[in-house]
Amino acid sequence: MKKTVLVTGAAGFIGSHLVERLLSMGHQVVGVDNFDGSYSPTIKWANICTIRDRDGFLLVEGDIRDAPLLDRVFSENDIGVVVHLAARAGVRPSLEQPLLYQDINIRGTLNLLEASRAFGVEQFLFASSSSVYGLNGKAPFNEEAKVSYPISPYAASKAAAELYCRTYSYLYHLPVVVLRLFTVYGPRQRPEMAIHRFVKRVDQEEEVTIFGNGTAKRDYTYIDDIVVGFEAALAHQEEAFSIFNLGRGKAVDLRHLLRVIEEALGKKARIKNLAPQPGEVSITLADISKAQALLGYQPRVSIEEGVPLFVQWYVDNRRREDEGSSSH
Ligand SMILES: NC(=O)c1ccc[n+]([C@@H]2O[C@H](COP(=O)([O-])OP(=O)(O)OC[C@H]3O[C@@H](n4cnc5c(N)ncnc54)[C@H](O)[C@@H]3O)[C@@H](O)[C@H]2O)c1
Repeated sequence: MKKTVLVTGAAGFIGSHLVERLLSMGHQVVGVDNFDGSYSPTIKWANICTIRDRDGFLLVEGDIRDAPLLDRVFSENDIGVVVHLAARAGVRPSLEQPLLYQDINIRGTLNLLEASRAFGVEQFLFASSSSVYGLNGKAPFNEEAKVSYPISPYAASKAAAELYCRTYSYLYHLPVVVLRLFTVYGPRQRPEMAIHRFVKRVDQEEEVTIFGNGTAKRDYTYIDDIVVGFEAALAHQEEAFSIFNLGRGKAVDLRHLLRVIEEALGKKARIKNLAPQPGEVSITLADISKAQALLGYQPRVSIEEGVPLFVQWYVDNRRREDEGSSSH
């Protein structure tokens, strides 16, 4: 395998962890990120501060919608593998900006598939989302379920990008692995994601607003387990196209999550319930048996172990949080 791995969205939450892991495995890594304003670019720069100057890492500040830029990146570097994480993420904001989600998540993915085809990439990993299961999924969600009923523009954009991945795999024999990620959390989690938001609010003794009555369930997956899942997927080269769920395989309801957060912070949450939000499903739960059987994937970190790890990181980085939000 050619050694250079292109990681898009390298300065993001998951991307920065993955780049660290790839570098320590001895890969050459080219990271592409446009440091967009989805949340503070200051936070993204902080995410990669320890890897920016490491040997084997090249950072390209640029946009995956810029096809000539991708052309340059591929022609100047010996890209063997693409790990495509760059996206506009998040369900709720996608209802406000459907065209932006379409542009980044679909057109951007297509640009990368085109470059991968043109430059003979050996493997393409795509970060998809549990949200593609939409109203078709019956928990636990199995990769065989139809994904024809997404209920947010974000979910629709990920489902469409998966279809393009399949098409390119079929037409051009580009080996593709789609990884459907289930709510990832841990150090550097995006500030607007539920666990991060709840921890911040409880810590600052502010009211925590939750949508619905607290019975919504999510399969929360710790970042280290996700990184191990990506690593296993990189070694999975038997099939032309495959899809794997990467989750923890346990559904946790919001009330339990809040209790775990309260315990980790040693503070009580003041909860305000709001009406359930359109676009959100009531449960996500991964059937991880396929990833277990074919990738040897075995998530290890429970919510009771992972939340205190996140809280510890949060407490150590409160100042960075404040700097990030003031420059946003
Ligand atoms: N975090 C989760 O729970 C979760 C769950 C399911 C799927 N995913 C997917 O995993 C991937 C990474 O998620 P994350 O939580 O790390 O998000 P993130 O927002 O922290 O990371 C995405 C990165 O992509 C970059 N980016 C966005 N648009 C770009 C563009 N046009 N060109 C270049 N770079 C661009 C952003 O600047 C950001 O650094 C996304 O594709 C997301 O949809 C995440």
